[in-house]
Amino acid sequence: MKASTLLFNSLLPAAAVAQNITFLTGFLQTLQGAGLTQLATVATQLNSSSVGQYLLANISNGSPHILFAPNNEALSNAPKNITGDLGRLTDVFGYHIVPGNFSNSVTRYPNVTLGRTLLTDPALVHLEGGNKAQVLAWAQRADNRTHVLNQRNDSTVVNVTSFGNLTVFIVDHLLEIPQDFNTTVPTNNESLSAIQTVLGNVQTPIFDATNNQTSNVTLLDAINSQWHGFTFFAPNNDAVQSAMSTIQGLAGNATAVQNVLYNHIINGSTVYSPVLAGQNFTSTAGEDLGFTINSTGQYVTSGNITARIVQPNVLLPNGVIHVIDKVLLNTQADSSAASSAIASATSAAAVTPTETQPIGFSQTQSLNPSGSATGTSGNNSGAITLLPSLDAFVGLGLSVVAALVGGVLTIV
Ligand SMILES: *[C@@H]1O[C@H](CO)[C@@H](O)[C@H](O)[C@H]1NC(C)=O
Ligand SMILES: *[C@@H]1O[C@H](CO)[C@@H](O)[C@H](O)[C@H]1NC(C)=O
Ligand SMILES: *[C@@H]1O[C@H](CO)[C@@H](O)[C@H](O)[C@H]1NC(C)=O
Ligand SMILES: *[C@@H]1O[C@H](CO)[C@@H](O)[C@H](O)[C@H]1NC(C)=O
Ligand SMILES: *[C@@H]1O[C@H](CO)[C@@H](O)[C@H](O)[C@H]1NC(C)=O
Ligand SMILES: *[C@@H]1O[C@H](CO)[C@@H](O)[C@H](O)[C@H]1NC(C)=O
Ligand SMILES: *[C@@H]1O[C@H](CO)[C@@H](O)[C@H](O)[C@H]1NC(C)=O
Ligand SMILES: *[C@@H]1O[C@H](CO)[C@@H](O)[C@H](O)[C@H]1NC(C)=O
Ligand SMILES: *[C@@H]1O[C@H](CO)[C@@H](O)[C@H](O)[C@H]1NC(C)=O
Ligand SMILES: *[C@@H]1O[C@H](CO)[C@@H](O)[C@H](O)[C@H]1NC(C)=O
Ligand SMILES: *[C@@H]1O[C@H](CO)[C@@H](O)[C@H](O)[C@H]1NC(C)=O
Ligand SMILES: *[C@@H]1O[C@H](CO)[C@@H](O)[C@H](O)[C@H]1NC(C)=O
Repeated sequence: MKASTLLFNSLLPAAAVAQNITFLTGFLQTLQGAGLTQLATVATQLNSSSVGQYLLANISNGSPHILFAPNNEALSNAPKNITGDLGRLTDVFGYHIVPGNFSNSVTRYPNVTLGRTLLTDPALVHLEGGNKAQVLAWAQRADNRTHVLNQRNDSTVVNVTSFGNLTVFIVDHLLEIPQDFNTTVPTNNESLSAIQTVLGNVQTPIFDATNNQTSNVTLLDAINSQWHGFTFFAPNNDAVQSAMSTIQGLAGNATAVQNVLYNHIINGSTVYSPVLAGQNFTSTAGEDLGFTINSTGQYVTSGNITARIVQPNVLLPNGVIHVIDKVLLNTQADSSAASSAIASATSAAAVTPTETQPIGFSQTQSLNPSGSATGTSGNNSGAITLLPSLDAFVGLGLSVVAALVGGVLTIV
């Protein structure tokens, strides 16, 4: 018997959830056969915690999964404060596993594929609904390689192998979990530094149901940590620069400035680029946000301004950013439309439908060659059904669900 099998067997009595030992033995042999000896060691170590056992049970349940598997060099070069901390490493490993069938279902346009991982640690993920797992985004580029997005170190798939329904994408770096906005800007997205400054100067009310108090925080704090579930169309530095004189002209009117920024945000919903395709959403100000795509890219329209999404799917623990090339200078607002939009978003967040394919796959699949969407909008929930055994780890009671009600953020 292989040492790895013995290790699993000796640890198994502690396992809280059913693992398929036959599968896991073959899985470890597949990793070792592909030269992923360090990852094989990590996989055996995972069995010492309930979250790790859950991850192994999930991989071995027979349904299709993708494992982004860091090679030995990737693990050797990874920060020691991750590889040397088993709890942290378990979270990071969960971010490398994407349940679902992704074969023959590459999203056609935009070319980014997103899948929901098994990372649900409430210390690291704060999406709407309180129990949604973090997503991973990847794209094939002109070099014909698959690149994982949102990584400081360009991380590519260097080889592919499989075992049963498990597809193993061997990657050359340990993947990084999305960090908050303040951390993301200086390390990963300098093009957002101008809008970061603007956000710091605009207030938004937050209602906290734990003490029934309303307080004003900056939009920067809201985006950085207080909102759980939002989509922010963030003008890049050039866009902010071009619009600066107009923004300064509004400076005496706080309502107008707030409306302009609210027209860049969908509150209560984290909407990834494939789901935007061909749909309309309501902004936090209550105005229409229209989305179109054509051969030159994906566009968002508010009022009479149309901006191109120049970088989709900048992932945050609590939402998503799509970087755009113009400021959507729309000072209009419709508070009743804003209220009903957030009510819909709140009820949608409470439902967690099954998700077994790329996020937004049904939308992109129905795009005709000219790029406009046809057919139904399909299941755009972007949520994965949590297995009952996961509830214990998610710690639902610890999660805070936040929602904007009538322009005020409610923490329920
Ligand atoms: C366990 O995994 C093996 C190998 O993939 C498979 O043949 C077997 O059917 C699985 N058993 C169960 C109970 O799922
Ligand atoms: C692979 O997954 C499919 C469902 O997508 C299932 O029908 C099949 O039995 C699975 N194969 C294995 C070996 O578990
Ligand atoms: C790990 O150390 C790096 C500096 O080497 C630091 O930037 C990072 O925040 C640390 N990460 C954790 C999870 O402590
Ligand atoms: C796919 O998208 C990436 C950005 O994520 C871009 O760099 C690349 O050129 C695109 N590839 C194709 C074939 O359009
Ligand atoms: C990528 O693939 C296409 C189509 O197979 C091919 O024409 C092109 O030369 C490839 N590019 C590179 C950089 O290998
Ligand atoms: C990719 O994997 C295959 C099969 O495991 C192996 O034969 C090949 O050498 C690998 N290629 C690289 C570049 O590692
Ligand atoms: C984010 O950074 C700004 C400075 O750019 C700072 O004022 C603010 O307090 C930070 N917010 C958090 C939650 O760290
Ligand atoms: C907040 O107000 C609601 C009704 O207005 C009340 O039911 C609830 O107990 C209050 N919560 C706290 C913490 O005071
Ligand atoms: C929040 O700001 C608004 C104006 O922007 C003001 O009317 C309100 O009193 C402030 N609320 C608190 C709790 O400071
Ligand atoms: C401020 O902006 C709001 C929203 O566009 C507008 O309704 C209002 O008339 C403006 N106030 C002044 C004094 O211009
Ligand atoms: C969608 O938004 C666009 C741009 O704001 C608007 O022109 C259009 O009327 C909206 N369509 C629907 C169906 O609401
Ligand atoms: C794509 O749509 C944008 C925004 O409506 C427009 O400016 C651009 O000219 C269109 N490109 C093509 C090739 O139709």
